[in-house]
Amino acid sequence: MTTTQAEIRPELVVDFDIYDPAVTMPVDRMQEKAAALAEIGPIVWSTSHGGHWLVTAYEQVHEILRDPEGFSSHPNNLVDAGQGKFLPIELDPPEHTSYRQALQPLFSPTRMRALEPRIREIVTELIGSFQHTGRIEFVEQFAHELPTQVFLALMGWPLADAALFTEATEIALNGRPGDTQEQAAQSRTQAAYEMFGYFMKVIAERRAAMAAGEAAAEDVTNAIINTEITDSAGVQRAMTDDELARMFFLLLIAGLHTTQGSLGWMMLHLSQNTAERDKLIEDPAAVPAAVEEILRFEAAIAMGRRATRDVTVGEVTVKEGDQLLLLLCAANRDEAEFEEPGALDVERTPNRHLSFGSGPHRCIGSHLARLMLKIAAEEIHQRIPDYRLDPEDPPVVLPSQVRGFNRMTLLFTPVTTT
Ligand code: HEM
Repeated sequence: MTTTQAEIRPELVVDFDIYDPAVTMPVDRMQEKAAALAEIGPIVWSTSHGGHWLVTAYEQVHEILRDPEGFSSHPNNLVDAGQGKFLPIELDPPEHTSYRQALQPLFSPTRMRALEPRIREIVTELIGSFQHTGRIEFVEQFAHELPTQVFLALMGWPLADAALFTEATEIALNGRPGDTQEQAAQSRTQAAYEMFGYFMKVIAERRAAMAAGEAAAEDVTNAIINTEITDSAGVQRAMTDDELARMFFLLLIAGLHTTQGSLGWMMLHLSQNTAERDKLIEDPAAVPAAVEEILRFEAAIAMGRRATRDVTVGEVTVKEGDQLLLLLCAANRDEAEFEEPGALDVERTPNRHLSFGSGPHRCIGSHLARLMLKIAAEEIHQRIPDYRLDPEDPPVVLPSQVRGFNRMTLLFTPVTTT
């Protein structure tokens, strides 16, 4: 039997809903709300989405992430859209291990480092396209474009389909704007199935080309199609089309929105902490540590877990089958782990933030994400360093388990080239 609200001490019960537009609109109040939850305790009970636990403390979040036996990764999403599991993120070890091993080498630090010149070219082109204007909508013109161009090239998927990918992943994460909770679940399922259909076609075309002996593209898509996994029955085999489609869609969601969000948070917080920003402008070598601090300061992800047995978290008994949501944004500002957690300190060390997760599901794309953030930060702070928010057009944050921006208008001194 799972926990019912009646069994919980009333002071631990809150009505917080991570998808509630009131959390982020008209201004983002997520950190404020997360801090208020953390003030109550390391774990509290939310009445939303049928009731679930919210874990706020660094120690407990870290422990849960590293205990896949006690806490299953399925479902990772609070809203059950009935679309089945995303691979590998919703599988538990030992089943998860083989799928992860298939992916991990394709996103290794060495492979990602080789992308640096191309990423810098894209960043330079993007900034070059707007630096003379003095005003940009940063999400559309940069934060969305950069990971999209990098990721689609890596996968070998057509840039012409970028708009389709964007729409489908946005709906899969958040539903359609204005949806009720039930409508959002339906919209999500529909978007997921449309994308599964799209990827089924990609897989069929790739397999047909390989069977016809055509020279295979050396992209991540073909590498994954040609990789073998050992399934739960111990059989070594290629992935089925269904498994591949579920993995490709997860990669698309994981690769695009997270990086887009972090680029937005970087601009927001550095424009509001100009003394910290000056350090990056004066010394590009300060960028890598600053990227880690931006990731810590605004962890965009809140992942779900489900208890597989009765277990104590903090001083609370969580029952088998209970759903949990791990608030990385609260854990990353836990003063038991970080000195002055509410201050943005681009030289912070040590900085053991949890923004890429921890344990068996730790982010596979962290090297790629860090590289994109680093190059973007280096080039932006050399070329349009005095950016600031447009007071006439304040940023719009989307409430979600992957929290990011809908829009963010920035002003800066235009750069004229002769
Ligand atoms: C700043 C950008 C990013 C952030 C903050 C981020 C964050 C995360 C987090 C917190 C997890 C763990 C989820 C969990 O434990 O339930 C994760 C997993 C994952 N991420 Fe990322 N991510 C980012 C970029 C990327 C990129 C660019 C890719 C694409 C290659 C990617 C691919 C993945 C995959 C495949 C997983 C699942 C790993 C597994 O289940 O074993 N991520 N990410």
